[in-house]
Amino acid sequence: MTETLTRVGVVGLGYVGLPLALAMHDRDYDVVGVDTDTNKIETLRSGESTVEDVTDDEVATAVETGLTFSTDYSDLANVDGVSICVPTPLRKTDTPDLSFVIDAAERLAPVVPAGCTVVLESTVYPGATEDALADILAENGVIVGEDLYLAFSPERIDPGNEEYGPTDIPKVLGGVTEACGDRAEALYDPVFDEVVRVDSSTEAELVKLLENTFRAVNIGLINELAQIAHELNVDIWNVIDAADTKPFGFMSFYPGPGLGGHCIPVDPFYLSWKADQHGVDTRFIDLADTVNREMPTHIANRIVKQLNDRGTALSNANVLVFGAAYKPEVSDTRESPAIDIIAELDGWHATVDYHDPHVPKLDVGDEIYESVSLTDERLQGADCVILVTDHSALDIDHIVDEAKLVFDARNATRGREDDHVIRL
Ligand SMILES: NC(=O)c1ccc[n+]([C@@H]2O[C@H](COP(=O)([O-])OP(=O)(O)OC[C@H]3O[C@@H](n4cnc5c(N)ncnc54)[C@H](O)[C@@H]3O)[C@@H](O)[C@H]2O)c1
Repeated sequence: MTETLTRVGVVGLGYVGLPLALAMHDRDYDVVGVDTDTNKIETLRSGESTVEDVTDDEVATAVETGLTFSTDYSDLANVDGVSICVPTPLRKTDTPDLSFVIDAAERLAPVVPAGCTVVLESTVYPGATEDALADILAENGVIVGEDLYLAFSPERIDPGNEEYGPTDIPKVLGGVTEACGDRAEALYDPVFDEVVRVDSSTEAELVKLLENTFRAVNIGLINELAQIAHELNVDIWNVIDAADTKPFGFMSFYPGPGLGGHCIPVDPFYLSWKADQHGVDTRFIDLADTVNREMPTHIANRIVKQLNDRGTALSNANVLVFGAAYKPEVSDTRESPAIDIIAELDGWHATVDYHDPHVPKLDVGDEIYESVSLTDERLQGADCVILVTDHSALDIDHIVDEAKLVFDARNATRGREDDHVIRL
């Protein structure tokens, strides 16, 4: 970047948008971050972070050096580029919910100036940037590719991953037209170590869905393998480690209590919904989903058996669940398998508590659970302890030493060979 700062906006300041806004600010763009959540904007303005991957210091320094936060879209009136990072959840019917993207586009359309480049980062179905966004932005005779530029660039961050930050991960990008792709590439090139240009926004959308569907399907396969291995009295974790010594043609995936987060359980449905519109059956996706959704029940059934062998019925048992977040080191509980496991155990009338240093409260159906403090008395009093999320803050050895029965859904107890420790 040269003397003249280029002004960019980031719309939606969550796990994706906030790190992106900071990365753009670090590369000397003049950045305004916009979010409809007033509390979030106030927190950010006061120099406090709202996601784990960004520290308070980073936000405070960015604010001091000119990064601004706003709830007002009119602050985007003179930007050269805008990245949209709003949620794309599923409806109750497991179909795509683009309402946040559409809302953002409708608010942007009247304010973004001519020549602006709009990049959608939120995961969407193939074709959505062109079908759903272009028409809204192309108000009043605006021609996409001439008066306004539109592209899709999937966010590929992995919150909690200290090895790969947002700008280290190659940035896939495709424009609605060639000119749109060129403009978006010029906007992102100074920010990311590598921009991977693909032929169209639809191609870029499918890249993201391929990556996450690949994970969902392989996790489904390994969850099925885990159930087979259990019946064969074989340790699936040893099997995976040994298979992983093959230097080609194998990639490790690990079983677990079920899929979690905003991406892996959700994104395959964006693909299957679109495939269905074209009359294509998505058998792999559907099967993986079935297997993955059955994991909490599989775990509950194995706990029932273990408790029975010890003369306790699950309905009379005290169960302590460790970890409510969907993965280690984050507080994100969206689609967390801990929720399904607690609901499943509650369905058996067990008394369930959970402990998670990152998650003070957890909604399970109509009930709100509060994280209990971790005391030796509580550990010793539980009939079963379930390790659902292996945050590094948890002292696994201490838990194993104090608990009567441990069900480890994450191989967090690897290396311990105790009779009261059961691994998935
Ligand atoms: N979280 C991840 O690890 C991850 C990784 C890759 C891709 N994604 C995708 O990125 C997108 C964003 O995910 P996220 O995890 O950052 O979501 P998030 O819920 O953490 O953040 C979204 C933010 O958008 C704001 N918002 C909602 N509607 C708005 C509007 N109309 N205008 C302005 N702000 C609005 C919300 O207040 C919130 O702060 C999703 O499509 C998700 O699938 C997420």
